[in-house]
Amino acid sequence: MQYLEVKTQSQSYKVVVGRDIFERSLQEIFNGSSWDKLFLLVDENVFLHHGDLLLNSLNHFADDVQHLVVPQGESSKTVAFWESTVNFLLTNGVRRNTPLFVAGGGVAGDLGGFVAASVLRGIPLIHIPTTILAMVDSSIGGKTGINHQTGKNLIGAFYQPNMVIADTRFLTSLPRREWINGLSEILKYGAISDASIFNEASIFQAEDYRIIDQEKLISLIYKCIKIKADIVAADEFESGIRAFLNFGHTFAHAIEKACNFDTISHGEAVFLGMLAAQKLSRLTGYSLNENFLEPYKPLYQFRVNPDEVSSEEIYSYMFQDKKRTDKHLKFVLLKEWQSPAVKNVTNKEHIIEAIMLMINEMM
Ligand SMILES: NC(=O)c1ccc[n+]([C@@H]2O[C@H](COP(=O)([O-])OP(=O)(O)OC[C@H]3O[C@@H](n4cnc5c(N)ncnc54)[C@H](O)[C@@H]3O)[C@@H](O)[C@H]2O)c1
Repeated sequence: MQYLEVKTQSQSYKVVVGRDIFERSLQEIFNGSSWDKLFLLVDENVFLHHGDLLLNSLNHFADDVQHLVVPQGESSKTVAFWESTVNFLLTNGVRRNTPLFVAGGGVAGDLGGFVAASVLRGIPLIHIPTTILAMVDSSIGGKTGINHQTGKNLIGAFYQPNMVIADTRFLTSLPRREWINGLSEILKYGAISDASIFNEASIFQAEDYRIIDQEKLISLIYKCIKIKADIVAADEFESGIRAFLNFGHTFAHAIEKACNFDTISHGEAVFLGMLAAQKLSRLTGYSLNENFLEPYKPLYQFRVNPDEVSSEEIYSYMFQDKKRTDKHLKFVLLKEWQSPAVKNVTNKEHIIEAIMLMINEMM
């Protein structure tokens, strides 16, 4: 069991990473005390595979454990589902100190985080991330939120959890495609911060993830969380270096939109986006002589027909991004590997060339 502390202005909290650590971590949280009530928000697939474990364990610590299942997929990150969840908590007697446990991937985590932030102006939140992406990225750092019909993640708040329990036992039921989605964020940390990750991520080349080396997996997850924790500690509200975590994401969000958030997953789009950002870095004059992402390409299987997306459409979606603050497009580029910088890029031809590379990679 490995621990680390995320220290932000608004809250410091512990992240626990390991295998079969869920029950032990609960004992730490409750520390001999028992609660009259607590809530669990749980992704539907996680409930299917681990519902008994979650409920039986939580039942040891509270007289009344109320749970709500979150249907899988982005359609749960809506105002309508946020409202049903808030109704569920309020009609079942939530108080300011009633903990909300959220078990699932980034969807359940973002939704649950925003519910915790908004109900009674904030209740205790414990994340139990169950996807690779949620363990290394979305459960850390306090970004919570839901989607709006005009775009993704447009309604939300910064709200730090009280604890994060990353137990790799939950990953035993995770489909292979979701492992690969999470791999993209892991490789992102390799690109922006720590080259050793490119070697250590080779465990993802395994045939069968159910028998993946746990020690290596835990140490890799820990390393990624530590990078994110350090960045968030330095820049909780993304006014500076936290933007480096968006490496590849400007391209990724636009291609996801071009595919109607349907045929391409977020992780697949991030992988393509990193290839494009790498290309744009070179076109802008930075010399990156090696392509550390290359060995991981065969693990991605795209279902998008490249003929159905056009570079002009993807380019225009970048301009429509509602979170854009500048009249020019900004990208996280690499001056060198592990040396990111946020740059305005005004040369449309360069951007289109980088987008074309992304489209060609899908063939
Ligand atoms: N808050 C942040 O900082 C942040 C960062 C990155 C991404 N995100 C958000 O995260 C979301 C994507 O998260 P995700 O990739 O975890 O997707 P997800 O939550 O949709 O989970 C992916 C799929 O895996 C299933 N699943 C989850 N855990 C499982 C398990 N242990 N066993 C079997 N099935 C399981 C889910 O039901 C779903 O079908 C997006 O909405 C994105 O916007 C947020």
